[in-house]
Formats: sequence, C-alpha cells, structure tokens
Amino acid sequence: SPDYMNEPLRPQFHFSPEINWMNDPNGLVFHNGEYHLFHQYNPAGNSWGHMSWGHAVSTDLMHWKHLPIALPEANGIMAFSGSCVVDHRNTSGFGDGKSPPMVAVYTGHGHGKQVQNLAYSNDNGRTWTQYEKNPVLDLNKADFRDPKVFWHESTKRWIMVVSLAAEKVIVFYASDDLKRWTELSRFGPAGTIDKPNWECPDLFELPVEAEPGKKLWVLEVDMGSGSVAGGSGGEYFVGTFEDGRFKATQHAQWVDYGRDFYAPISWDNMPDTDGRRIWIGWFNNWETCLVPTSPWRSCMSIPRSLSLKKVAFNKEEPAIYVLNQRPVEELKELRVSTRTIDATKAAWPPTAVTQKDELNDMTFELEATITPGTARSVGFRIRTADDEFTEVAYDRHYSGVYIDRSKSGNVGFHDAFAGRHTAPARTINGEVTLRIFVDRSTIEVFINGGEAVISDRIFPTSKSPSIEVFAGNNSAKITSVQLHKLRSTWRR
Ligand code: FRU
Repeated sequence: SPDYMNEPLRPQFHFSPEINWMNDPNGLVFHNGEYHLFHQYNPAGNSWGHMSWGHAVSTDLMHWKHLPIALPEANGIMAFSGSCVVDHRNTSGFGDGKSPPMVAVYTGHGHGKQVQNLAYSNDNGRTWTQYEKNPVLDLNKADFRDPKVFWHESTKRWIMVVSLAAEKVIVFYASDDLKRWTELSRFGPAGTIDKPNWECPDLFELPVEAEPGKKLWVLEVDMGSGSVAGGSGGEYFVGTFEDGRFKATQHAQWVDYGRDFYAPISWDNMPDTDGRRIWIGWFNNWETCLVPTSPWRSCMSIPRSLSLKKVAFNKEEPAIYVLNQRPVEELKELRVSTRTIDATKAAWPPTAVTQKDELNDMTFELEATITPGTARSVGFRIRTADDEFTEVAYDRHYSGVYIDRSKSGNVGFHDAFAGRHTAPARTINGEVTLRIFVDRSTIEVFINGGEAVISDRIFPTSKSPSIEVFAGNNSAKITSVQLHKLRSTWRR
C-alpha cells in the first residue's frame, strides 16, 4: 500500500484523494464494468478552489483506482457538480459509431453566473471533449446548479433535476438529445423553508420493502446550513413523478442524522442484472470542513443501497415511508476475521471487551443487538486513550441512538465540531440492531438495517482503540456483538 495510506487518520476502505481537497461526488455512472466516481476536486490545494472533476474507477465499489482529472477548470470557469449518463441511443450524436458515449452534464461556474454544460467521452471516461455549443442552459442566474440527469424510460426522454439554489426551488427539464432542454415543472420552496439554499438534487424511483410491486419516487436535496445536526445536510421527499411533475406525498425527512453526510447522488446506468440504487455522499460538513488532515481533505461515505420502508418511529405518529440505507453487500468481502464478544454483563462503569492491541489499525465493524429495557442508556465506547472516546448508544429518553464525539480526540479545530447527534430508533420486539463502522477517522452507524443512519468524522489522537460496553441498569442488555476486522482496500 502507498505510504500515505499509513497516515493515522487515513480511512482504509473509504475513498479519499491522495492529496488536496475534495467535496461532492459527481457523475456517478456504471459503464462497461466500471463504477465511475467523479468528484469536486481542487488540484491546486487542500481547501476549496479551482473546482475540477477528479476521477476514480472501481469494479466493486470498494477498491478505487485514481485517474487523472476529467474536467479541469478552464478559462475562469470552474467545473461544479453534475452527473453522467451513458447515451445508449446516441441521442446526442456524440458517439463514435462504435459504443455509446458517456455524457457529463455539469455546472459551469464563473463570470458571475452558473450555467449547465456538456462534455463527452468515447473512451470510458479517460478523455473528455467539451461540447462546442456550451452552455445548454443559461438563465443568467448566479445560483443555478448541480444537474442530475437520467433516462426516463416510460416517456423515452432525458429528465434533468437542477436547483435554483438561493430560491430553494428544483426545476425539472426534459430533452430528447441532452442539448435542448424544455422546462416541465418546479418544486419548492418546501421542507425546511426557513433554512437557506438547496443544491445537489437527485430524483429516482425506489421499491417499497414488504409491499411487492409498489414503487415511489424520492427527491433528495441538500442544504448548505441549518440541517438536523447543524451545518450542512440533506433532506428528502417521498412522492410521485408523473407528467413531468414531482408531488410530495409526505413531509420532508432527514437523510442522515450525523453531521457529515452531504450531497449524495446515486449511480446511473446500473446493469439490468443488478436492480440496486446505490449512492455515496461527501463525508464532511461545510461548517467544519477544514478538518485536521493534511495534505488531503475529505473522504466519501460507504456506498449505500437504497429502498423505502414503512416505519413508525414512535407510537404518537403514523407510519411513514422512510429511506432505508444499507451498506452495499460488497463491504462484507473486506472482513478478515470475525469474533463474538460477550457483552451481556454490560453495567456501569464501562468495561473493555476487546483484547489489548486487537484493533490497532482501527478499521472494523461492530454488529450488535441491544435490548434497552428500562435503562436510560446502553451501548459502546470506542476508547482510543484514557480520556478519549467516541460513544455510540441507545438513549431511551429520546427513543434514539446517538454518536457522541465530544471527547473523540481533536475536537478543538472548530467550535461546532464536538457534540452528540441522535437519530430516531424504534425497538422491534424490544430490540435495536446496529451496524457500526469505524475507519480510523470515520464512524457510521446504521440502525435497524438502515432505517436511520448517523455519519460523523472523528479525529482521535491515539489509534489504539479498545471497545467498552456499558448499561444503565441490569434490565438493559447487549445480547449479541460480532466484531469484524476489516481489511484496507489498498492491499488487493
Ligand atoms: C455543494 C456545492 C455544489 C457546487 C459544488 C461546488 O457542496 O456547493 O452546489 O456545485 O459544491 O464545489
């Protein structure tokens, strides 16, 4: 593995740039056996600027190969976020007659405005040509960005969702050739309307678990500040998409209850043999984005497989359709060893349940089932030093599960960083199940199979963790814990 993978804060199976700054995932598309992961990237430094599309490919969503910049900043125009499609019918005419072209639809940012541009590739995304008649959409606006395009099979045309960010409005367009776009409808402002800006929309149809044949549409949007745990984050609407119009059929919900999951978009052009809808998000928060890592900043989340599930989080409110996010199955391939931990005697104070030096590389998954009983709280401390730990536990008072990173290590680099982030968690037959992924400087908690997720960065100053368990009283139990050590994706 390259030297930089040995940095103590470098995630081992989460995608990160070798050097320099990264933000949103862009242009996620599957083509000719490869998952493409383009991303907002600054080739010139470790903070935001000179935005370009960085590029990486993978055949399994886990092992990524870094490739040269795909779309550079040019003539004072930065390449902001956007999407990629594979133009199977060569509607754009960009094809070479041999195989369908990849077409990137992205925001050109510069000279006081934001416009939508095209670029295309006929060699699997290795080289790109700008469309000579760019832009394809120009409203003369400063905040018009982040187009997500997909082929809408039932009306046989391309659909674009793109945001009028400052107005909190999503505009829907249609096109036959990716070049000429007609406005269909608008959605918003809606949801958390008291909070500023919407960006990075995505729109897709998902199956509903346990309701065979039922599908609903999901519109996801991201807000630069004012999200559930503070700072930037995403919300989504469940509804219908008919006659070119999205209608929300229930109120907005939060995508992730941590502070560090932003601007997720989903892979387009998934093979017919693979019915999954998978997305990945930027594992960071604009408010605290200058995280203490150098000479690189930011990583992506675990790729998550999406579905809808009808859930009543508590007895006072009716069941609603909730976006379920499950780590992709491919992640299980990274398990190098698994052992069962006996945590049934969890009490107060916390006691260690792992061996010394067992988790030195700090890259592991914990699968746990908790029976909260009548205790106020029960759960885990990932202790990285005497007074340094990250807590993950069930909190009966809030009917929730939280990550508390107040003492997780370096929390002083920004005032808003330390804190506790709680997600709703129902008990099913008296139990809550958790999958907790720790990867050096990241922690993701998937509750009850993914019906709520908490994603947080952590910056421990020691990388020699032990796992401790605790319970408020003896009616609370951690009935089963599997510890999976995970391997770095840099040692294939
Ligand atoms: C979201 C965002 C997008 C924009 C990009 C610029 O994080 O602000 O709206 O296209 O980042 O890097």
